[in-house]
Amino acid sequence: MTEQTHEIRLNVNGVEHEAAVPARRLLSDALRHDLGLTGTHVGCEHGVCGACTVLVDGQPMRSCLMFAVSAAGHEITTVEGLARPDGELGPVQQAFRECHGLQCGFCTPGFLTTITAGIAENPDPTEDEARDMVAGNLCRCTGYQNIVKAVCRAAELARADEDGAA
Ligand code: FES
Ligand code: FES
Repeated sequence: MTEQTHEIRLNVNGVEHEAAVPARRLLSDALRHDLGLTGTHVGCEHGVCGACTVLVDGQPMRSCLMFAVSAAGHEITTVEGLARPDGELGPVQQAFRECHGLQCGFCTPGFLTTITAGIAENPDPTEDEARDMVAGNLCRCTGYQNIVKAVCRAAELARADEDGAA
């Protein structure tokens, strides 16, 4: 028996996509398999590791815990949407590069989206606040030291962007 599908429109990184998905299709799978946006990584598939984090209307969300049909009508931002419009690295990406915030890189997209939302909410985090900001994201490779440094550096770069835009 063929499974019933639902036609949905997903706004991802400012682009409208159409997909026909079963009601049970996870947003993480829809992004990766239906839309080909494989930057969103899937680790635990249980909402624990944070690797699959995307922004839904600017808020970090575990895409492995959300159905694709529930995401219709919302603005989704994946790691692919964090670059600047001219293709240059966005502040969080640039900070990770400068501060050596990644090793294997598997967890990195989830950190980048989480931190993007975190510094929007708290544009000048202390080191402790930076540590709290990434506490829900698991990385097996690092001691988080450089990731925490990257949070503070990303906030600095984002503030400089704001000052430049003002
Ligand atoms: S894959 Fe979603 S939280 Fe781990
Ligand atoms: S860099 Fe390897 S899991 Fe985080």
